[in-house]
Amino acid sequence: MIHKFLHPLCRHMILAALFLPLFTRAQQPAVTEPHRPQIHFSPKKGWMNDPNGMVYANGTYHLFFQHNPDSTVWGPMHWGHAVSQDLVHWKELPIALYPDSLGTIFSGSAVIDINNTAGFGKNAMVAIYTNHNPTQEKAGSNKFQNQSIAYSLDEGKTWIKYKGNPVVKNPGIRDFRDPKVSWFAPEKKWIMTLATLDHITFYSSPDLKNWKEESRFGKELGAHSGVWECPDLVSFTVAGKQVWVLIVNLNPGGPNGGSATQYFTGSFDGHAFAPDDTHTKWLDYGPDEYAGINWSNTGNRKIFLGWMSNWQYANVVPTKNWRSAMTLPRELSLKRVNGQYLVASLPVNEFNAALRPLKQLANIQVKEDLDLSQSAEKTNGIFELNLDGVSPADFTIELSNTKGEQLVIGFDKKENQYFIDRTHSGATNFSKSFAGRHAAPRLATSKFINLKLVADVASVELFADDGLTVMTSIFFPAEPLAKIRIKSGNGLLIKNLRLSKVASR
Ligand code: FRU
Repeated sequence: MIHKFLHPLCRHMILAALFLPLFTRAQQPAVTEPHRPQIHFSPKKGWMNDPNGMVYANGTYHLFFQHNPDSTVWGPMHWGHAVSQDLVHWKELPIALYPDSLGTIFSGSAVIDINNTAGFGKNAMVAIYTNHNPTQEKAGSNKFQNQSIAYSLDEGKTWIKYKGNPVVKNPGIRDFRDPKVSWFAPEKKWIMTLATLDHITFYSSPDLKNWKEESRFGKELGAHSGVWECPDLVSFTVAGKQVWVLIVNLNPGGPNGGSATQYFTGSFDGHAFAPDDTHTKWLDYGPDEYAGINWSNTGNRKIFLGWMSNWQYANVVPTKNWRSAMTLPRELSLKRVNGQYLVASLPVNEFNAALRPLKQLANIQVKEDLDLSQSAEKTNGIFELNLDGVSPADFTIELSNTKGEQLVIGFDKKENQYFIDRTHSGATNFSKSFAGRHAAPRLATSKFINLKLVADVASVELFADDGLTVMTSIFFPAEPLAKIRIKSGNGLLIKNLRLSKVASR
């Protein structure tokens, strides 16, 4: 058992050393591989963790990702690369960034330098990432993570690393990483939001090369049971008011154990972030959304993507030639609920275009059991179930297969909680932290519940109440969970039900 209080990066490394010998070189991937998602991005082979450098340019969404191409466990990090025009179908491209003399390539972001502030060329794609130097780490230095930049003039295919790297030098903080850079238009400067152990440090720059520290945030606020990682800073306009959201990923210490994404709401004046509320808020309460941040260069749209796993067991999940997938891209919005600003997430609209309805029912009364299996079996475990106007009674949605494996999603009226129970969902014994029932508060104040459930072979994403409560959970059944039953002991009213399969190609 790897001790949970070990530094997270040491843990990655020990796991890598333990499992590296087991790795056999990947065969050509096939969509028929067990547990291979069809509508979520997963690498053809090898290990993947955080989404990186997400940027929109010329009609293409770029997704770079933490990648160890030669193993299915964490190791020397590269930036893998994939592209999509519709945020649903992805094409994997050759590796974008390789380790260099400054270290391996940890998480970071990318921007389009529209004004050529860096002088690399108008509209250059510039990646800002952490160089992680394992040699320096082993030698006992505290300064082994530094921020570097690289640019591409051919839409992310080839990259030139800047000669003056690193551009932000480590002052002696072990965990000093994951720069998220955005343009702060009122002062015509770049802002870097950096995770620095147990707080965020903001830097600013006129040209992406010269950075100055502006302020620090969060040492005494929010959840702190683990290291702060992968931050993001975005703004929304709500009722004419600009409200800023600071996303801070945390590992471990999430609401259901392990890695999770918390956020703060408040204001940002180009120098410092001031929270308007000190509650800890979670973007996704399930165990399997981590390191989530937003695409850059998408105008007013905030499109969020997370890694669909958890450091508690990511290195040992039972997939063969690759490990991990990303969540669905989600559009974020900010809502005012009970005097608080809350971030809501829903699958991007583009996803709706891929839906092919199989069954639609209106004004149904569920007494005991509504069996949707006949339609559901056509989905092979890849579907969206949309329920609107559901009376707030106890109910469960059971996904199962002929092997008796099941995943139970439900609502507990007394606790006012949603839950996902994967105790009997298939293979679970690869990690003690995996099996279990995970719960999340219902935050909406509306009388009726609505929910959207997206399943894709080995994952389910629950978007309840227009995305105010979100849960992501992965699972590994022996065959698709393609039977669906909705159950309610006390009876349930559903105004509209729609079950759709999802066109994967
Ligand atoms: C988060 C993280 C980042 C780091 C990367 C290394 O999952 O630990 O903080 O940059 O993964 O792969």
